[in-house]
Amino acid sequence: MVDKKPVNGHQILISTKSLNRHGLIAGATGTGKTKSLQVMVEELSLKGVPSLVMDIKGDLSGLGAPGSTNKIIEERAHHIQMEWEGKGFPLEFLSISDEPGVKLRSTVSEFGPIVLSKILSLNDTQQGLLAMLFQYCDDQGLPLLDIADLKTVLRFAAAEGKAEFQKMYGLVPTNSAHAIMRKITQLEQQEGDRIFGEPSFDVGDLCETKDGLGVINVLRLTDVQAKPGLFSAFMLSLLAELFQTFPEIGDPEQPELMIFIDEAHLIFKNASKELLEQLDTIIKLIRSKGIGIVFITQTPDDIPENILSQLGFKLQHALRAFTAKDRKAIRLMAQNFPESDTYNVEELLTELGIGEAVVSFLDRKGRPQPLVHSLMRPPLSRMDVLSNSELDSIVKNSKLKDKYEKRLDRISAHEELTKRIEEELEAKEELENEVPERPVAKKATTTRKEKSTLEKVMASSVTRTIARELTRGILGVFGISTTRRRTTSRRRRR
Ligand SMILES: Nc1ncnc2c1ncn2[C@@H]1O[C@H](COP(=O)(O)OP(=O)(O)OP(=O)(O)O)[C@@H](O)[C@H]1O
Ligand SMILES: [Mg+2]
Repeated sequence: MVDKKPVNGHQILISTKSLNRHGLIAGATGTGKTKSLQVMVEELSLKGVPSLVMDIKGDLSGLGAPGSTNKIIEERAHHIQMEWEGKGFPLEFLSISDEPGVKLRSTVSEFGPIVLSKILSLNDTQQGLLAMLFQYCDDQGLPLLDIADLKTVLRFAAAEGKAEFQKMYGLVPTNSAHAIMRKITQLEQQEGDRIFGEPSFDVGDLCETKDGLGVINVLRLTDVQAKPGLFSAFMLSLLAELFQTFPEIGDPEQPELMIFIDEAHLIFKNASKELLEQLDTIIKLIRSKGIGIVFITQTPDDIPENILSQLGFKLQHALRAFTAKDRKAIRLMAQNFPESDTYNVEELLTELGIGEAVVSFLDRKGRPQPLVHSLMRPPLSRMDVLSNSELDSIVKNSKLKDKYEKRLDRISAHEELTKRIEEELEAKEELENEVPERPVAKKATTTRKEKSTLEKVMASSVTRTIARELTRGILGVFGISTTRRRTTSRRRRR
């Protein structure tokens, strides 16, 4: 658009080759961010590129049904000179809660001690203890699947099995064990424990195509808005898993998978410094795996500076200036766009109409292009949501449903250790019955001073454990479990 009027017949197309450089869709409420996301996901699907969409508000299910035309759509289609025809796209609903859809889960050992430490916000000493628990389970061949397993191993290491455990791995600080248990309880209260267990989700299943169209995986997250901690931890583990599973491919002609995170401020709100650093690193590295990430949020300020500076394209919808502070922020934001001879960006940012955006992007070679005031094309799919029965029918016909529907509960660390403790107790009772009068050994007590020395020793052994893990995992985000076995067949055709 020039002088706020559409220039008929000129289409602005972003090269799929640049999409693994990630992007941002920003704008005040109601300015068209989610519809722009819808349009991008549609275009990708048409090119056979699958997407994963974080549907925080539950307003993206309409992608599964054709839209119907109206005057506004016709007018827009005329300006853009496109043939508009309603079209529904292949959807797969995913969920990490009670929302309908295929359940996304991973075993505790797949999360690994480092990601889990981030999820639980553990300090170094606690993280070291957790790493030892993982090591113990690895050595003992105890499957660490769900939260019950983790709690039982922790209890075992701090109580019944403490002597055995300390002999093999070093001291177990009681305070740290209690602290980890408290953090696990907090996670359970946020229902975060649901993301742990079997069958664990194979991220390769996100890369399906159907009849040549990329499948759009809609992760329904309407009930996690109040749990930003869980959401950011979940995102980190998902990105880490994608990073680990996908091969290095450099800059492909089109992405293997695009991830859209609506209401992205939820990820960064309350995220710890470590979590942010991990996200920053992984966003940098995931690019060469052919995965692009698009953040959708009200203002670019919601995204940490170091992540923002990595984003290849920006689709900026209108901003509203209510206060002097807002005006200052908009001026700053305008300066962050490439210079333009055609537009007064600062003015334009507050004057954009709904479904219009200032777009800046990279060309195929990664060179920044001049910014353009663009009228977004209308979605081909429905702008409204699906009805419950439409949604149910998609969930019912899901290709992934049978694979993930039933939660498995095979014998794992919890059952094994509980059995062992019971057997040991029985043996002890029998022994006590045989020799009733035995001098009781004085209970060992640890003074405060000794405890702090313990913590110091612990911290140094922790450093060693972590260093070993860092060399095992490329990023230091991944676990040490040797039980991880993943097969991935990407881009499967149905
Ligand atoms: N590309 C478009 N084509 C046609 N109509 C559009 C387009 N973009 C936005 N609209 C209109 O604007 C309305 C609001 O858009 P949308 O829901 O995308 O806003 P939003 O920025 O995501 O808002 P929120 O911050 O509340 O989530 C839509 O319901 C639709 O009527
Ligand atoms: Mg929205």
